[in-house]
Amino acid sequence: MITTVTLNPSIDKTVVVDSFIYGGTNRIVDTRIDAGGKGINLAVAFSQLGGKARCLGFNYDGGGEVILAALEKRGINNDFITLDGDIRINQKIYDRSKQVVTELNELGLPPNIDDLSILKKRVVRDSEGSGILVLCGSIPEGVPKTIYRELFEAVAHLSITTVLDAEGDLLREGLKAKPYLIKPNLFELETVLDEKITSPYEAAKAAKRLLDDGIKIVCVSLGSDGAVILDTDEAYYAPGLKVKVRGTTGAGDSMLAGLCLAHEEGLGLEDMLRYGIAASTASVMKEGTLLCTKEEFDGMLPKVRIKRLPA
Ligand SMILES: Nc1ncnc2c1ncn2[C@@H]1O[C@H](COP(=O)(O)OP(=O)(O)OP(=O)(O)O)[C@@H](O)[C@H]1O
Ligand SMILES: [Mg+2]
Repeated sequence: MITTVTLNPSIDKTVVVDSFIYGGTNRIVDTRIDAGGKGINLAVAFSQLGGKARCLGFNYDGGGEVILAALEKRGINNDFITLDGDIRINQKIYDRSKQVVTELNELGLPPNIDDLSILKKRVVRDSEGSGILVLCGSIPEGVPKTIYRELFEAVAHLSITTVLDAEGDLLREGLKAKPYLIKPNLFELETVLDEKITSPYEAAKAAKRLLDDGIKIVCVSLGSDGAVILDTDEAYYAPGLKVKVRGTTGAGDSMLAGLCLAHEEGLGLEDMLRYGIAASTASVMKEGTLLCTKEEFDGMLPKVRIKRLPA
């Protein structure tokens, strides 16, 4: 089972217009409401692949029932701390003619110091018995950038696989707790290492420095160019698959779901990458925020090509 922690959940409201007129009146032709937040998306992706997931973190008494309904529909267990106030709403305007999305994202109401201390205790309590703990996504204003490091340190005495998918200072600080697996994208890796990377081979070489710091596995996702994965013994590269892309939202979460599933099944590095690429590719072929089903994932697996990189 994986346990995910979402500190900054959202409701993603997507409206579709034929041709967006900035400053004008736009007629909405379709509307979709989805539960948002990386930990929630990851739990959904993982459960769609047949895994068992549980969601922790914060939810809000205003509007938070959308999150609960989305999870309950899929049989995903949750143990959120419910805060007063409204959940943030992320508006997405999809312009059909240009196939462009404009996003208007709210920041979210901050939890207070007591909420954070309750969260820490709950993460420790509820992580026991879960094989994998994933900390991912952004955090609300007012929460210290050290929060992921602190949460990992709080569960350090448990035998649990720790996974981090975050950016900037959250990633930089989180690395200090030496999570088992991280999945930065190229930009996140470049930022944390403060260097420019121009090829998959260079990405693997640069990511090796993070292994020296005590991280066990690094998977760097490269968008349409695929991904590399490495531990101290081996490194592999999977080129991106040429498919018809309908929506890249949740690509990273699907990839993480594939990586976690392979780890849970006791598979090695090469198969972890195969699972990650298959899940993310099958998901980008689906409209908007929709993530792949188990059948779509199974169908994609044999198409993934993996090359061994020099260690
Ligand atoms: N345009 C694309 N064509 C094919 N595959 C893609 C494309 N975009 C993403 N993918 C697949 O999804 C994986 C993850 O994508 P990416 O590197 O963009 O993640 P990310 O930046 O972490 O995404 P997120 O915004 O969801 O966090 C890639 O390694 C690849 O397998
Ligand atoms: Mg990402």
